[in-house]
Amino acid sequence: MFVENAPLQQRNTFGIAAKCQFLLEVHSESELVAALNTATVKNLPLLVLGGGSNIVFSHDYAGLVLCPMLKGISCLADQGQVVVIEAAAGENWHMFVQYCLGKGWYGLENLSLIPGTVGASPIQNIGAYGVEIKDCFHSLRAICRQTGQAREFSLTDCQFGYRDSIFKRELKDAYIITHVRFTLSTIPVLKMQYGDIAQEITQRGISQPSPIDIACAVVAIRQRKLPDPAVIGNAGSFFKNPVISQSQFDDLKIQFPQIIAYPQGERVKLAAGWLIEQTGWKGKSFGQAGVYEKQALVLVNRGGASGQEIMLLAQTIQQDVLSKFGVALEIEANII
Ligand code: FAD
Ligand code: EPU
Repeated sequence: MFVENAPLQQRNTFGIAAKCQFLLEVHSESELVAALNTATVKNLPLLVLGGGSNIVFSHDYAGLVLCPMLKGISCLADQGQVVVIEAAAGENWHMFVQYCLGKGWYGLENLSLIPGTVGASPIQNIGAYGVEIKDCFHSLRAICRQTGQAREFSLTDCQFGYRDSIFKRELKDAYIITHVRFTLSTIPVLKMQYGDIAQEITQRGISQPSPIDIACAVVAIRQRKLPDPAVIGNAGSFFKNPVISQSQFDDLKIQFPQIIAYPQGERVKLAAGWLIEQTGWKGKSFGQAGVYEKQALVLVNRGGASGQEIMLLAQTIQQDVLSKFGVALEIEANII
């Protein structure tokens, strides 16, 4: 059922009080295709909205907001040590990860507690604690927004990169993802190198961790570091960590010996949170838009912030980081 003049505040984790002209939840591919036809006939712009955890509404949306609610998780192939699991777009990501762990299908545990839906997970190749979905990705099914035809995408088709995929570039707004498939393992392969995972496991007195222990550790670390959107509005990291050349990094390192960075192939990835902290913005606010006290890469809504306020704060931070370090911060969230 089309809802006219629908409120979006409960549908974006920033809690921005935007509205849209029409909103429609679809529960199947046929409902989705029918909605695409209606949007075309009525000449309505279309926005696909999952959990709204990576979106900033800088204004009301004059068009149709389409919410894929397709549900279902199934095992498509079981080859003993390897399984292929399919989840529909409307499944909650964290619930899906937990479901897989419960079944003894491993590989996604480091991606625990990332908000949002399965359908959005390939858009920016979600990643955390040393794993990205591309590491377990099998394929996906999507509906072309122009033709209503279904198409399969393989790992190579998706062109995944750091917080990037073809759906953010050449095929931006071209397809609606309905199902995502993952190749998971029934034998645990633990990834504990990143950040505080090993320390967290040791502190818990666990000597032989299981994938469930890793998931619990990741959840605990995330709960300490990141604001809970149910308490304080946010969209996770607002900017990407900038990737720069080795020579630019060498120059910066001379000027800023404390700079935090990681190798990224032949290039270097800088910790944007550190850069922002150095500009003095951590914990500060601009109107009701603020920079989270414990993580400067996360912008927060301190109550009633508009999308415009958040964007103004983001632009000011970008300018300050550029003038102090000569580094451009690219916004990770999707700005509407
Ligand atoms: P939305 O915000 O609704 O949409 C995001 C984009 O995907 C939009 O462009 C939308 O149009 C498009 N889209 C959504 N669904 C579909 C679909 N079915 N088909 C086609 N396009 C679609 N991200 C990480 O990578 N790692 C993290 O560690 C992480 N931590 C976070 C922590 C917090 C507290 C928060 C609030 C966010 C975090 N994020 C993180 C960002 C966010 O959770 C992910 O980007 C997530 O995949 C977004 O899912 P969503 O369903 O909310 O998408
Ligand atoms: N740091 C600071 N000051 C800050 C914040 C961070 O100095 O205010 C330093 C930390 O001390 C650490 C380094 O920066 O040495 C990296 O910080 P952290 O481990 O918190 O990770 P991040 O690079 O800030 C990235 C992702 C997160 C993901 C975590 C864990 C991006 C843009 N962000 O954050 O993803 O959960 O690593 O893997 O890559 C998201 O995309 O929304 C997101 C939350």
